Amino acid sequence: MTEQLLENKSNSRRGTSIKRRQSQARKAFDPKDPIQLQKLTKEFGEHRAVDELTLSIKQNEVIALLGHNGAGKTTAIYMLTGMLMPTRGDAIINGFSIKHDTDKVRSSIGLCQQHDVLFEKISVQDHLRLARRIRKNCGGGEDEDTEIDEILRITMMTEHRKKLVKALSGGMKRKLSLGMALIGSTQTIILDEPSSGLDVESR
Ligand SMILES: Nc1ncnc2c1ncn2[C@@H]1O[C@H](COP(=O)(O)OP(=O)(O)O)[C@@H](O)[C@H]1O
Ligand SMILES: [Mg+2]
Repeated sequence: MTEQLLENKSNSRRGTSIKRRQSQARKAFDPKDPIQLQKLTKEFGEHRAVDELTLSIKQNEVIALLGHNGAGKTTAIYMLTGMLMPTRGDAIINGFSIKHDTDKVRSSIGLCQQHDVLFEKISVQDHLRLARRIRKNCGGGEDEDTEIDEILRITMMTEHRKKLVKALSGGMKRKLSLGMALIGSTQTIILDEPSSGLDVESR
């Protein structure tokens, strides 16, 4: 797997923005790649939070957006998941436009948001069950139990599977959010600060 780092470009006229570092050797954009960001831009009034972010991501590639607080990472992710409409530009994810085919884009991605979206009175394993059924639009079955066991193992949450969310530590909640993004075999996984609050071993 290749890892490519994107850094924020500071001192833009209207403030900081996430923009691809031009000096990188790898080609910024290849229309054959499954994920393509095309001049993706978001402005909040006068403030340009994301400035013409253009890049493509290959199959099995891992991309990390790096930037200080307020650099525009979460805004970029919100656009990729259809939670915010771009001011200009577009992104194609697995063949679908985030502007025109938002529902289809959503069904092909797993998202771990920056802030956990969990239900206090529902257990860890039931969160995973819920996430999988919504994503795959299906009921339970043997496959479901096998997949939940695997996700619990990967996220080191097996011993906490029956706990309610209100009994979890911050790090455990983060791991559950990560598990919910991973379950259901989506083509693309988008993680916003997935390791914040995690101990070294979990990272
Ligand atoms: N809904 C919003 N309305 C106005 N400004 C926003 C909104 N969301 C984010 N911003 C601004 O956009 C910039 C980028 O924020 P964000 O994407 O959350 O940064 P990061 O995730 O890199 O810390 C910040 O200056 C932030 O204040
Ligand atoms: Mg953020």
